[in-house]
Amino acid sequence: MATVRVLTDEPYGVISPRLYGHFAEHLGRCCYDGLWVGKDCTEIPHEDGFRTDVLEALRAMPVPMLRWPGGCYADHYHWRDGIGAERPTRLGLSCDRQVLDDNSLGTHEFLDLCSKLGAEPYLAGNMGSGSPQEMCDWVEYTNASIPTTIVRERHANGRENPWNVRLWGVGNENWGCGGDYEPEHYGREYRRYATMLRHVDPKAELVVCGFEEDWNVRLANTLRDRWRLVDHFSIHRYWIKGGHGTEFGEEGYYSLLHEAEATEQFVLRTREILNEAGATKVGIALDEWGVWHPESRSWGPDGTQGYVGDYEQSGTLRDALAAAVALEGFHRQCASLSLANLAQIVNVLHAPVMTHAGGMWLTPTYHLLRMHAPHLGATAVRTAVQSDEVSPGLSALGATASIQGDATALSLTNRSYREPVEVTVSGVGDVFSARLLAAGEARAENSAWDPDAVLPNALHYAYDGPDTLVFALPPHSMATVSWRPRTT
Ligand code: AHR
Repeated sequence: MATVRVLTDEPYGVISPRLYGHFAEHLGRCCYDGLWVGKDCTEIPHEDGFRTDVLEALRAMPVPMLRWPGGCYADHYHWRDGIGAERPTRLGLSCDRQVLDDNSLGTHEFLDLCSKLGAEPYLAGNMGSGSPQEMCDWVEYTNASIPTTIVRERHANGRENPWNVRLWGVGNENWGCGGDYEPEHYGREYRRYATMLRHVDPKAELVVCGFEEDWNVRLANTLRDRWRLVDHFSIHRYWIKGGHGTEFGEEGYYSLLHEAEATEQFVLRTREILNEAGATKVGIALDEWGVWHPESRSWGPDGTQGYVGDYEQSGTLRDALAAAVALEGFHRQCASLSLANLAQIVNVLHAPVMTHAGGMWLTPTYHLLRMHAPHLGATAVRTAVQSDEVSPGLSALGATASIQGDATALSLTNRSYREPVEVTVSGVGDVFSARLLAAGEARAENSAWDPDAVLPNALHYAYDGPDTLVFALPPHSMATVSWRPRTT
């Protein structure tokens, strides 16, 4: 038994669509193959080189914001390689991989993808092997309107108007793959880059690279009296303690959900560090998050030694539930968390969309994100939940609610591995949508040969009185119910 009440007059803030951002890195088959098949491809239908099936799925998800080109790839990437007719073939470098990279997906193509998807672009600049001038030139190329030589080059390459890209990452994971900096050194370099970038475009929103506690404290101290140069403070969180992606039991299941739920604590602790250093107005950018199973990495618990794959992994109902649990926390922290990017958008890691040759399938995480669409841009409000614990510190029922216009959306997670939960929701009006994502097993997943194994269905509910709703949530399931005030 669990009860829920939506506290409509206790808002947390607006859920920025940027909290539902995605991440496309030149890694494995994410960009090349997953998104981009090239303008000359004849086997797979595409729009200007981007797979039509993937575009359609992503538009429906939706994708309000998209980060590119890395990841670790960003600190090797030279943007000039990806413009114009003659493009060099380089070593594509990210996450210990070396691949042939023909640069056919470059700045114009990526920004065209964003416009096809209705996504705000977020570009990650190169601070590992690049220079402040190189990044300044990229900002000028994309955002300036005065006809400089660089802007005329953009015109010659087919784009008259500036794209006005707002979000700029100043490096990526510069504590590691992005140059192995010390936080004080990185912080001082950041100040130089940010000063120069702001001269080129004062409206650019700049993202500085955080990490874990020690780095964050030391970086925040280095930036203490320079917060005017920082808009967002990046942190990453991958959940790695759930064991194998599909061969897990109850222990691994709860372990992953605990990690997902603890993401909120990481955000809160980062906020404390920022506030202590005077950065009360700097947003937290969780610009990589999601599940990273041991079969797809060579580090961390159970990481497969000498892993040589393509960072592809299974995407089960458990992974979707973990994402749903984390999103409940994102909503609660929406006044502090300024953006978030699920890693990654197609084929790689916690992907909502998978492809194989001409085929495509959607993971349970895709369906979960689609069920969360009513929350984008809505006002998150507190919920009062009474429910048992299913594992120490983890309640059976999780809830998040938001209000947009006269519509209220309530998303619920039943985190129990084995038991259904009977839910009573009070204060409900006229329900106009009620969807359930469930399957017999938490390890259920979709695949090329069984793409519809896990699909949202109608949630069966009943009224118990004029404004009280009752329904059962199966084990390891999630639901979204939306209603408007009664008209009669
Ligand atoms: O998403 C894969 C990698 O994880 C990214 O390139 C890097 O930023 C992180 O370590």
